[in-house]
Amino acid sequence: MPKLTFIGHACFLVTEGAQRIIIDPFITGNPQAAVKVEEVDVTAILVTHGHGDHLGDAVDLSTRCNATIVGVYELAMYCQKQGAAAHPLHIGGARQFDFGWVKMTPAWHGSAGGDNNEYLGVAAGVLLTVGGKTIYHAGDTGLFGDMKLIGDRHPIDVAILPIGDNFTMGIDDAAEATRMLHPKKVVPCHYNTFSLIEQDPEEFRAQVGTAAECLIMKPGDEVEI
Ligand code: NI
Ligand code: MN
Repeated sequence: MPKLTFIGHACFLVTEGAQRIIIDPFITGNPQAAVKVEEVDVTAILVTHGHGDHLGDAVDLSTRCNATIVGVYELAMYCQKQGAAAHPLHIGGARQFDFGWVKMTPAWHGSAGGDNNEYLGVAAGVLLTVGGKTIYHAGDTGLFGDMKLIGDRHPIDVAILPIGDNFTMGIDDAAEATRMLHPKKVVPCHYNTFSLIEQDPEEFRAQVGTAAECLIMKPGDEVEI
């Protein structure tokens, strides 16, 4: 059974056997981070978009752990220029890697980063299937109707959704996203890291109701999925 660990903000670790897959590894400078970056050992790195609170420590982890970064083409090329190993995918594209199956999904958001805030392609979400379980990490996004298409075509065990509002969906829209994606479980993220995105996750749980099991994870929490 794969395990899901919440590192903090939008950063999650998925482990299955020898595989340790980190998503959006913002650890250095993350006020919620449950670990220090030097304690982290990974076999793969998925990045939804180039903003600093998602790309985070990806390049350093890639070089230190000899782990490949998977992201959209422009972001992957940027990471390669920084000396990282990176595999480009793009929206709608999927690939079976050694560590699992990944498909990039749309997200309505921007994506620029690096020292010069350069264009790093479009923002994305990711579907990750490992050990027979499918995790959907929406990245940073507003609500969009094609979430229903994603949920209908890919049975989702755990959906990880931002609820912080301001930059992404807020609670109302994330609850609607849950109904469209119809996952077994939903985990809210991207809230309470900074004052601009303060939210009460219990209000999200109440709005989700019976649409999915809502897991409110604290940084450092680990669950079997
Ligand atoms: Ni962002
Ligand atoms: Mn963000």
